[in-house]
Amino acid sequence: MSILSKEAFFKLFGSGAFIAEKPLYTSFDDVKVLIALSRTFYPKTVIEIGIQRGETAKCILDNSPWIEKYIGIDVIPSHQTTLPVQRGEVPQKAGECVKNDPRVELIVKPNGTRDLVPTDLPAADLIFIDGDHSKVGVALDTLLAMQVIRKGGIICWHDYGNHLVPGVTEVIDALNMNEGDHICLVEGTMICFQFCREGR
Ligand SMILES: C[S@@+](CC[C@H](N)C(=O)[O-])C[C@H]1O[C@@H](n2cnc3c(N)ncnc32)[C@H](O)[C@@H]1O
Repeated sequence: MSILSKEAFFKLFGSGAFIAEKPLYTSFDDVKVLIALSRTFYPKTVIEIGIQRGETAKCILDNSPWIEKYIGIDVIPSHQTTLPVQRGEVPQKAGECVKNDPRVELIVKPNGTRDLVPTDLPAADLIFIDGDHSKVGVALDTLLAMQVIRKGGIICWHDYGNHLVPGVTEVIDALNMNEGDHICLVEGTMICFQFCREGR
């Protein structure tokens, strides 16, 4: 695993400072990492897998006027998540915090990303994976993201190191082992990121 200290990351990519209430599912530092990447690379098209109510999306969008399209993907309220520990996360109204932002497109399907193929999505500059945290779920979402990311784009994963959902860590560690540590953890956060040399 490549690891960047928070200090080194924020020196390289800027502080990511923002003013808003802390989103429920991400820490302030997690969001700062995403905003710092946005402020450095100016993504035009962003995809968030597992947008939930859109609390993190709102922080990113409010601090990234250059984003032209923000696609939030989630499941319908009756969906049974793969992991019992994620059942309480399924939103009644996916993306409700950002639904009035004209840049936002919500894709809400019975089985979320499992109902999508790469051609359903535009090429994206930044993809944030925070949906089904089971091993299979993370692996499938990573595969989807790899097929949709633009060359030079960034894929971020949430929940690395979260012992409640070990599948995220297992998938990222396996990818790093096979591919040579291309995915980097920002130490002290649950965010990993990869710059993608291959892509659409
Ligand atoms: C931890 S929450 C995401 C929090 C959100 N990213 C944020 O930062 O505010 C996980 C989300 O993934 C969604 N989810 C679970 N399985 C999914 C799937 N197969 N496809 C898309 N979303 C899924 C859940 O409904 C839930 O909204």
